[in-house]
Amino acid sequence: MGQWHIGVIGGSGLYEPGALEDAQEIAVNSAFGEPSGPVTTGRIGNVRFTFIARHGKGHRLSPSHVNFRANIDVLKRCGVTDILAISAIGSLQETMAPGTFVAVDQLIDRTVGRDRSFFGNGIVAHVPLADPVCPRLSGLAASAAEQAGATVHRCGTYVAIEGPQFSTRAESHLYRQWGADVIGMTAMPEARLAREAELPYALLGMVTDYDCWRDEKADVDVTDILAVMRANADLARSCLTRLAQSLPDEREASPIDTILDIAIITPPDHWD
Ligand code: ADE
Repeated sequence: MGQWHIGVIGGSGLYEPGALEDAQEIAVNSAFGEPSGPVTTGRIGNVRFTFIARHGKGHRLSPSHVNFRANIDVLKRCGVTDILAISAIGSLQETMAPGTFVAVDQLIDRTVGRDRSFFGNGIVAHVPLADPVCPRLSGLAASAAEQAGATVHRCGTYVAIEGPQFSTRAESHLYRQWGADVIGMTAMPEARLAREAELPYALLGMVTDYDCWRDEKADVDVTDILAVMRANADLARSCLTRLAQSLPDEREASPIDTILDIAIITPPDHWD
C-alpha cells in the first residue's frame, strides 16, 4: 500500500494540466535524451499529479519526433506510480462519435522506427504486454470522465500509426477490418515503455473525428480536430479533479509495479 502519484501525458490540445495546488514547473533530465519539455507537478487535494505535454509547448514535436523514452523516464524519476495519457483520437466506429471519450484497452502498433524499449543493449528483457492497459486505472479514469460529464466508451482497440500524415481511405477500411475502433499516432511505443518502466498505463482518448472511412469524400482536418480538443480540454481537466477525488486513499500494489522481476533474462552478473 502506498500513495498515488499520477503522471499525466497531455496530447494535442492539452498542453497544461489546469489548476494544480502548489504547482511547480521543473526541468528534469533523462538518461535517454531530451524529453518533450519540463514537467508541472502539484496536487489536487491529497493526490500528486505530474504533467508533461507530449508534443511540447507550442506543439513543436510531431509524433515521430517525440522522445517517448525520455518522457517515460522523466515521469519515473519524478516518482509517478501510474500514467494516464489523454490523447486526441480518430474514430473507426459509427458509435464512437466525435466529442465522446474512449478508455482504450487494446493497442495495435503500426509505428515504425521509434525507440520502443529501454532494454536490449547489455540487458535483455521481455515484458508481458498482452493487456497493455491497466484495468484499474482505466476504470477509475473512465468513471472520473463520466462524473465530469463525458460520454465514455469503456473499451476500444486503438491502432497507432506512424503519421504524421493521416491514413489513406484504404488503410482506414483495413484497420476497421482488423477490429480497430480508434486511431492515433502516439500510444505506441508509449504504452510499451510505461510497462518496461513498471508503470501501469491507461489511455483516455477524446474522439475528434471519424477518420476517412465514413464519408467517401471527406478528409480528416486538423482544424476540426483542434476545435474538438479545445472544446473538450476543460472536460479533460475536470476528469483529473474527479479522478483525484475518487482514488482510494491508499494505492494497492499492482503486478505491473514489479513486472521486471519476471522479464529480465540477462543474469545480473552479466549486466553492463
Ligand atoms: N488523431 C486524431 N484523429 C486522428 C486520426 N483520424 N488519425 C490519426 N490520428 C488522429
